[in-house]
Amino acid sequence: MTLRGFAIVLVCALAGAASASCGSASRARHAGTAEDPWVVGMSQCNLGEPWRVQMDADVREAAAGHANLKVIFKDAQNNSLTQRAQVEELVDQGVDLIVISPKEAAPLTKPVADAYHQGVPVIVLDREVQGDQYTTFIGADNVRIGREAGRWIAEKLGGRGAIVELKGLMTSTPGQDRHRGFLEGADLRARPGLEIAFTGEMQWLEPNARREMESALATTPKIGAVYAHNDPGAHGAWLAARAAGREKDMIFVGIDALRHEGQQYVRQGILDATFLYPTGGAEAVDLALLILRGNKAPKKIVLGTRLFTRDNIDQGGLEIK
Ligand code: FRU
Repeated sequence: MTLRGFAIVLVCALAGAASASCGSASRARHAGTAEDPWVVGMSQCNLGEPWRVQMDADVREAAAGHANLKVIFKDAQNNSLTQRAQVEELVDQGVDLIVISPKEAAPLTKPVADAYHQGVPVIVLDREVQGDQYTTFIGADNVRIGREAGRWIAEKLGGRGAIVELKGLMTSTPGQDRHRGFLEGADLRARPGLEIAFTGEMQWLEPNARREMESALATTPKIGAVYAHNDPGAHGAWLAARAAGREKDMIFVGIDALRHEGQQYVRQGILDATFLYPTGGAEAVDLALLILRGNKAPKKIVLGTRLFTRDNIDQGGLEIK
């Protein structure tokens, strides 16, 4: 068993002892042998962003070590109705378990609950659905990441200045949580010199962030910091600021910290900071195997984060405790 798997069993054993929060064991249709492998349906909301490509790659890599497991990948191309239909298709196909990273909470709640009630275990990854009709949620704590980002920016600016916030899709839970956490961390009431001068919703996409930032630059003469809910957003903002010759006047902070994206931007001096948002793909495969083997699962698995800045990037970032 992998170290990750061990940690999950342990969490479950503890949760089982303390409460009834562990989901029930599965009723798989396949035997889970090399001849008749378990079939997992992976419902991805889109593959247009590098972070999601990485999530699928992490799932693929973790599953490759298990001949008794087969994964079917679906890409909803950033459309909640398509994703809903794909979840229903996976259930009709008779998969043994579903992993879903939903585009938006509300429209994906029912298909997830329906699958769960039909006895298909569902692992919800990264973005949440509403309620608790699923087996397990795996993801990092977005409120906490937002709070750390807010605190970091406020301190970096010495408690003074104008902030531009570029929000992710606000019908998805990470957008809501990263905003709420940021307000807590920046604590504008305690720092009267600090203000959020401009907010825009860039829906996680770099071109949208660039456009929003052009408006921010046009309406805000002096910007101290850009807080974007993901690294593509922070990079889009930087491109707009550079086109206006103003990129050196402000700091840029994002979230995701992919090795070949956000971490690279920090090395290049484009971003001042980025917070790791782990994909959870490998953990989802470990947990899927545990569930398929008949173990109970914890209701929630929270993944950690790290802060990457120019000062710590060569040491692999700083763990946020
Ligand atoms: C990719 C992404 C990431 C972000 C995550 C939030 O679609 O936008 O950049 O961290 O989704 O769910």
